[in-house]
Amino acid sequence: MNIAKLKTDLKFGTGPNDLTHGFVPTMGALHDGHKELIRTARADCEFLTVSIFVNPTQFAPGGDFLEYPRTIEQDIAALRDLRVDQLYVPTEDEIYPEGTMVNITLEPIEYILEGAQRPGHFSGVANVVLRLFNIVQPTRAYFGDKDAQQLIVIRKLVTDLHLPVEIIGCPTVRDKDGMALSSRNIFLDTEERVQAKSISRGLFAAQDAFSSGELSSYFLRDVVRKELEPNNLLFTEYVSLCRPDSMDEVIGECEEGDILSVAVRLDSTRLIDNICLRNRPESN
Ligand code: PAJ
Repeated sequence: MNIAKLKTDLKFGTGPNDLTHGFVPTMGALHDGHKELIRTARADCEFLTVSIFVNPTQFAPGGDFLEYPRTIEQDIAALRDLRVDQLYVPTEDEIYPEGTMVNITLEPIEYILEGAQRPGHFSGVANVVLRLFNIVQPTRAYFGDKDAQQLIVIRKLVTDLHLPVEIIGCPTVRDKDGMALSSRNIFLDTEERVQAKSISRGLFAAQDAFSSGELSSYFLRDVVRKELEPNNLLFTEYVSLCRPDSMDEVIGECEEGDILSVAVRLDSTRLIDNICLRNRPESN
């Protein structure tokens, strides 16, 4: 595996080539959710690049940028096992050269749901992903459904700026108990971890109600809230049911494909999860 710190070290970063070049951008602290994206990309593509960059511009001032887990040695070992061809671990200066002026913004999507809770977050994501795409020059890039709004933002970035890259969304990987894998789960203590299970329990209960014919968006949001409420360590930021493209909140009846999402805080740990409503739950 080639390990590149600068764009000049990248093997296929300087122009078009004939290979299918897959790309999985990450912030490291790799878990099975990341690994599944990488396996999917490995099976699909002839050449595979993974990046690890904890992007400062997507963290709020005073957010958990400094505390964000960094496990580079384990990550490198895992990426070798997964037969990744190239790992890109850029420096901050490489991504944002001194005097950087260009700044992508996305309206109105960066101001709703996750965007409302984390001002500047999606602008930071769009800015880093655009730069990474330009440096790595992949033909396909893989993102998790786990971060549903992020995936919508990336698709919008690619469409609006005519970027020559295909975006592939991949299903959320969960623990046996249903909890979505996240790099932040390691911050939960035992009791918080127990209470956090109510997030996926609530989402699955709503999915069950939907597949049994319940279409009221108010009712389905309430199903989730009722699972979350009894947990005294858990603070709910939002429970949303929105349309998949515009992210407009559904008023009245929902339909297959709508996204039910949750954000909570347990002490200083923030967790998000979502499901895409399906008529058949097993297709989630
Ligand atoms: P990070 O949180 O490291 O996630 C990297 C990719 O892994 C994202 O596409 C995310 O949606 C996906 N992922 C995380 N947990 C997952 C799970 N349980 N199942 C499936 N996929 C999962 O998302 C970011 O980094 C950053 O915002 C980034 C896109 C790299 C830009 O900085």
